[in-house]
Amino acid sequence: MIHPVDAIAPHGGQLINRIATPEQRQVFLEKADTLPQLQIDDRTLSDLAMIAIGGFSPLTGFMEQADYDRVVNEMHLSNGLPWSIPITLSVTEEEAEPLKEGNLVRLNDAVGRFVGVLELTQKYRYDKMHEALHVYRTNEEKHPGVAVVYKQGPVNLAGPVWLLQRDTDPRFPTYQIDPVESRALFREKAWKTIVGFQTRNPIHRAHEYIIKCALEIVDGLFLHPLVGATKEDDIPADVRMRCYEIMLEHYFPRDRVILAINPAAMRYAGPREAIFHALVRKNYGCTHFIVGRDHAGVGDYYGTYDAQYIFDEFDPKALGITPLKFEHAFYCTRTQSMATTKTSPSMPEERIHLSGTKVRELLRKGELPPPEFSRPEVAAELARVMKVPVQA
Ligand code: ADX
Repeated sequence: MIHPVDAIAPHGGQLINRIATPEQRQVFLEKADTLPQLQIDDRTLSDLAMIAIGGFSPLTGFMEQADYDRVVNEMHLSNGLPWSIPITLSVTEEEAEPLKEGNLVRLNDAVGRFVGVLELTQKYRYDKMHEALHVYRTNEEKHPGVAVVYKQGPVNLAGPVWLLQRDTDPRFPTYQIDPVESRALFREKAWKTIVGFQTRNPIHRAHEYIIKCALEIVDGLFLHPLVGATKEDDIPADVRMRCYEIMLEHYFPRDRVILAINPAAMRYAGPREAIFHALVRKNYGCTHFIVGRDHAGVGDYYGTYDAQYIFDEFDPKALGITPLKFEHAFYCTRTQSMATTKTSPSMPEERIHLSGTKVRELLRKGELPPPEFSRPEVAAELARVMKVPVQA
């Protein structure tokens, strides 16, 4: 049930809960040995969990073909709601063959633990190249999101799911705040406007700048780093979380920020993922969502502001959540502050451009990010865990 005073309704109007009740769980456990079994990888497991906790509301399971086709081709579900990323359970022919539509399938995690149940309603083949070209705007295998699609099996299994139980992420027990809980926290704090921030990089000063610009005009910040699967050269989630903690200790008004993990996997789908990220944060109760430069991008696949332009393709009411769009922020040596071309008269040579990619490159070369890039406490922490020798 959604509380009448919540600042924003979940996508589709109702927060989905597909976590088995203790009674349902008991029934599933009793059937456990008789059900056909399927092993799912960590990505699919994180999708299963996101569906179950309502982060992907209104989805109650893995997409059937009607939803899949419309999402890939038109960025909407078959019921007309905006949705930009297919959420699918893809398997091999051999895995799909023995499974019968209308039956329950036991889902096991990578180490064989019984984690969920799929009520199989449909099996269908799909066109990977078509998905890649539409969702990722490229069919190149070196795109990390496309690579995942190409590695998947050729058959999608669809239908409602149940998560057997909601386990706490042992890495971040205090930061696992599910949508029902974030909504309760926002109510408790009487926040009417909440801005969500997606990130997959160690926090740098451009992030801090755009977050704080947003904080000037809303009641609270939901700092929501993604800790699901990312590409190999991204900084590990535990390191990134420590950096956010450090920032909260030193540089943010503690009572205006809630730090929580986003358990989903990263897709690197740029513009399409910006829409998806916004809808997920709407489900967590955010009214606003930050979209900066090359949001969820990778390499040169997307234009700097494509992830902002895509919002114009949607009816703002149907999306519900309001994007806060920020220009490329840089450190300006003329004004000696963070700025964008909207706020600084600087010439290009007076701008120090920062990005997660640059921070990663510096660390790989054994260099610390300078103070224009990262706060010193964050740089020191990155140096410590990445084993970069600290210069005198
Ligand atoms: S993302 O893949 O999660 O988008 P990242 O953690 O780097 O990557 O970015 C988080 C958010 O900050 C995104 O909205 C992104 O557009 C924004 N952002 C990152 N760097 C800058 C910058 N220099 N100027 C403006 N926005 C930025």
